[in-house]
Amino acid sequence: MRHLMSPMDFTVQELDTLFDLASSIEKNPAKYAHACDGKILATCFYEPSTRTRLSFESAMLRLGGQVLGFSDASSSSASKGESVSDTIRVISGYADICAMRHPKEGAPMVAAEKSDIPVINAGDGGHHHPTQTLTDLLTIRSLKGHIENFTIGLCGDLKFGRTVHSLIKALVRYPGIRFVFISPEELRVPDYITDMLKANDIPYEEVIRLENVMPELDFLYMTRVQRERFFNEEDYVRLKDFYILDTAKMELAKKDMLVLHPLPRVNEISVEVDEDPRAAYFKQAKYGVYVRMALILTLLNITV
Ligand code: NCD
Repeated sequence: MRHLMSPMDFTVQELDTLFDLASSIEKNPAKYAHACDGKILATCFYEPSTRTRLSFESAMLRLGGQVLGFSDASSSSASKGESVSDTIRVISGYADICAMRHPKEGAPMVAAEKSDIPVINAGDGGHHHPTQTLTDLLTIRSLKGHIENFTIGLCGDLKFGRTVHSLIKALVRYPGIRFVFISPEELRVPDYITDMLKANDIPYEEVIRLENVMPELDFLYMTRVQRERFFNEEDYVRLKDFYILDTAKMELAKKDMLVLHPLPRVNEISVEVDEDPRAAYFKQAKYGVYVRMALILTLLNITV
């Protein structure tokens, strides 16, 4: 039995196979509409979410399966003090696969150790968000045809943004990737990430001004300042509108640069950018369903 805790749990080859399956599902959804008949997905969400939880549920429903779960720790037995290990033991008897989001780093891994069913980390604190990374990689591959030789700018809250941490870790395995980290000093990417890049000779640069680097980017991955992980509201208020991507900044970019964002967006991309053909974030959310369908089939060992 296999779980998904980190984007590194799959080799690059296994990811290719997963993305081929996701693309096949996108092209021919009817073929997969009953692949999970009789199967149940549990979504155990101890932290708010819209797209991750609903995209998991949509993925299972589109495969013919069913879903159950909770979307808030206060409506689960966690509010009575139950541990994730006990919860997953019980859920193992109710469902065939579980997607878990938790504010504590490592909680889904603790659950996986006690689980009889595959557990998918749907985001653990500021640590990892592997299924968002699968979504991002599938989006890059589908819209550009490959995942190599790109300069990728990651902008915003690079300190607390788990989607950023997971994506960087996954991308270092592809050839010719160069990173540009764009953040205020206080929200720089953690040292463990830059140490890892240095150790692997992966080129990166850290800058504060987005305008200066816009022309060199093939992708711009915008992120929200992660309010819920700040220690005080004052710092959040000071930093939340540090970057606002608008049409003037888009004029500085390559004609084929793509803008990605894991969503939800707050103010960091002004809505006028949505009309720009280079804005790919809503398409990206759709790829999230195909890749989760492929992931559910893979972890349940179902071939169609
Ligand atoms: C992200 C998350 O939860 O980390 N959202 C998502 O799953 N698409 C990004 C965010 O909340 O900013």
